[in-house]
Amino acid sequence: MKVTVVGAGNVGATCADVLAYREVVNEVVIVDIKEGVAEGKALDIWQKAPINSYDTRTVGSTNDYTKTKDSDVVVITSGLPRKPGMSRDDLIQTNAGIVKQVTESIIAQSPEAIIIIVSNPLDVMTYQAHITSKLPRTKVIGMAGILDTARYRAFLAEALNVSPKDIQAVLMGGHGDSMVPLPRYTTVGGIPVTELIEEDKLEAIVNRTKTGGGELVKLMGTSAWYAPGSAAAQMVEAIVKDQRRVFPVCMKLEGEYGIDNCYLGVPVILGKNGVEKVIELQLNEDEMKLLKDSEGHVREVMSVLDRING
Ligand code: LMR
Repeated sequence: MKVTVVGAGNVGATCADVLAYREVVNEVVIVDIKEGVAEGKALDIWQKAPINSYDTRTVGSTNDYTKTKDSDVVVITSGLPRKPGMSRDDLIQTNAGIVKQVTESIIAQSPEAIIIIVSNPLDVMTYQAHITSKLPRTKVIGMAGILDTARYRAFLAEALNVSPKDIQAVLMGGHGDSMVPLPRYTTVGGIPVTELIEEDKLEAIVNRTKTGGGELVKLMGTSAWYAPGSAAAQMVEAIVKDQRRVFPVCMKLEGEYGIDNCYLGVPVILGKNGVEKVIELQLNEDEMKLLKDSEGHVREVMSVLDRING
């Protein structure tokens, strides 16, 4: 199995590193536009192999996509990260062109690859990659749900003083402040979370989750990478090992949840074909309203992309 990670910045390099040390695949190719950076990071990860005891080969390439030929899965992390004071949507003008160009280069070498988008604004960059690649919607998916859910689970684990491993949760909608964490579908070792935490504390955690990316941008002056890179690697693993994991991922909806032609996070089964099945939850009225609000926001940004693409 061969995986390509486009973008050797913090997120791409973290993703490649996780794929390598967890021996998810035999070969990881890292591509970047900056001369020598991908080669350097690939070499550094490879030199860590004897220390951490793995044998995944890592190969770097400065913009030479022939090295990515016949990749099974491609993770696109290219583009600018946001700076303090910016929203993810502010990146659209720059990142739309980058994601389009990268997708074309990838498809030319690996027409059957499954593409995972990490670049922001996430939902709309998934739209860009989908229309550029012309692949089925089940093969062009965005990484946000695992990351946002991980933040929610981590905050809950801290508040309840329990292992984050035991917190299971679902989160839907766009990857922005309008995302929809779902307390009704959150459990701690099988116990509904609402039985373990006061309502106001839970609400504060939901709100902190919604702005979780921004909290890190404020702290570091740039966006996060450990959790985003690991989340993308977890999606790759589910696909290449055909694990049929249940994760929220961003994809084009075609009637699910009464939503058509919009890119949003929904729970799916992820396996060797990409999205094997979209899971349709029985949302209540309040949850549905939040999802619709999120849809409205993503649609606005999609129409900005339509204007950019002419
Ligand atoms: C994240 O949520 O960490 C990423 O989408 C990066 C960002 O700008 O917040």
